[in-house]
Amino acid sequence: MNAVIRATGTYVPDRRVSNHEFEKYLDTSDEWIVSHTGIRWRHIAADDQAASDLATEAASKALHRAEIDAEELDMILLATATPDFVGFPATACIVQENLGANNAAAMDLVAGCTGFIYGLETAKGFITSGYAKKVLLMGSEVLSRHVDWNDRNTCVLFGDGAGAAVICAEEGPEERGVLYTYIRSRGWGARLLERTAGGSRFPFKPGETDPTDLLLKMDGRKVYNFAVSSLVETIEHLLEYHDLSIDDIKYIIPHQANLRIIEAAAKRKKIPLEKFYVNIQEFANTSAATIPIALAELQGKHMLQEGDMLIAIGFGAGLTYGGNLIRW
Ligand code: ACO
Repeated sequence: MNAVIRATGTYVPDRRVSNHEFEKYLDTSDEWIVSHTGIRWRHIAADDQAASDLATEAASKALHRAEIDAEELDMILLATATPDFVGFPATACIVQENLGANNAAAMDLVAGCTGFIYGLETAKGFITSGYAKKVLLMGSEVLSRHVDWNDRNTCVLFGDGAGAAVICAEEGPEERGVLYTYIRSRGWGARLLERTAGGSRFPFKPGETDPTDLLLKMDGRKVYNFAVSSLVETIEHLLEYHDLSIDDIKYIIPHQANLRIIEAAAKRKKIPLEKFYVNIQEFANTSAATIPIALAELQGKHMLQEGDMLIAIGFGAGLTYGGNLIRW
C-alpha cells in the first residue's frame, strides 16, 4: 500500500512585512538580514488569526484540489509549535470542526520545524497499518505571537503561515508517495531553542515570571552548526538507503531557516544550489509550515511531474531533524 500525496494547499496572511520595518526601531539593516539569512519578507497574522485559522485555509485548498470531501478524512494531523491553546485542546480538533471532518480522529504533532517530516511518516504509518485511507497533514504556525520583537537575534528570522497535504492510500504496480523516512532527535540540544516559561517546568506566575521568558529564545550559532550537519547527514542517509545519486533527485526541499545553512550543506555535499527549492526570501522561517508551503508552491507552479523523486528535510527545536524520500 502506498501513501501518496494527492494534493497540497497553502495559506499565508496578507500582511507582508519587509526588513526595512525593523530598521525603524532596531539596530539592524536590510543588508544585514539579507546577507546573513536570505530573508527579505515575512507574512504576519492579523490579531484575530490563530494557527487553526491559517491551517483551515490551507487545508480547504488542499481538499478542494484533491477533490475530497472533509467527511472522507480518517485522520487529521497538525504539526505546530504555536497551537491555539497551550496543551489542550489540540489545534487539529479545532481545524476538524472548522472543516466539518466529522469522521476523523485529530491530534497535534510537536516536533519543532521537523513536524511535517515526522507527520508524513506518521500519516504513512496510519495508512500502511490499514487504519486510515485519507489523512490530512498540516503545518501551521503563528510565530509572530511568540518572538521577542525587541531581540534582533531572533525577531527578523520568523514568519507566519500554513501548508497542508492530503495523503491517500493507493495501490499500484510502482512504489509511490512517501518511500522512506529518516528521523532523529538530539535531546542534548533541547534547551538551545525554547520558550522557557508557561509550561509545567516554569509555570506562569503573575508578578514573578519575566515576560521575555514567555518568548522564543535561541542560541543561533549552536543551532546553525547543528542544522548544517543534520542536513548533510539526512541527505546522505536518504540517498544511501535507496542507492540513489543526487542526479536521481529532482528537488531537495529543505527547512527554510537560513539560506546560508542551505548553501553550506550544498557546498559540503557538492550539490548545485539550484537543486534546493528556496522561498525563504518571501516567507522567512515558518517552522513546521515551511516544507508544506514549499511543496504547495512547487505543485502550484507545475514544477512537479508524476514520478519525480524529492527529498524533504527538516531540522529544529528538540533538536529534531530528518527527511522523507518521496516519489511524486
Ligand atoms: N541585525 C544586525 N546584527 C545582528 C542581527 C540583526 N538582525 N542579529 C544578530 N546580529 C549580530 C549579533 O548581535 C552579533 O553581534 P556581536 O558580534 O556584536 O555580538 C553578530 O550579529 C553576529 O552574530 P551571530 O549569531 O554570530 O550571527 P550569525 O551570522 O550566526 O547569524 C543567525 C545569526 C541568523 C541566527 C544564525 O546563527 C542562524 O541562522 N542560526 C540558525 C537558526 C535556525 O536554523 N533555526 C532553525 C530552527 S528554528 C525552529 O525550530 C523554530
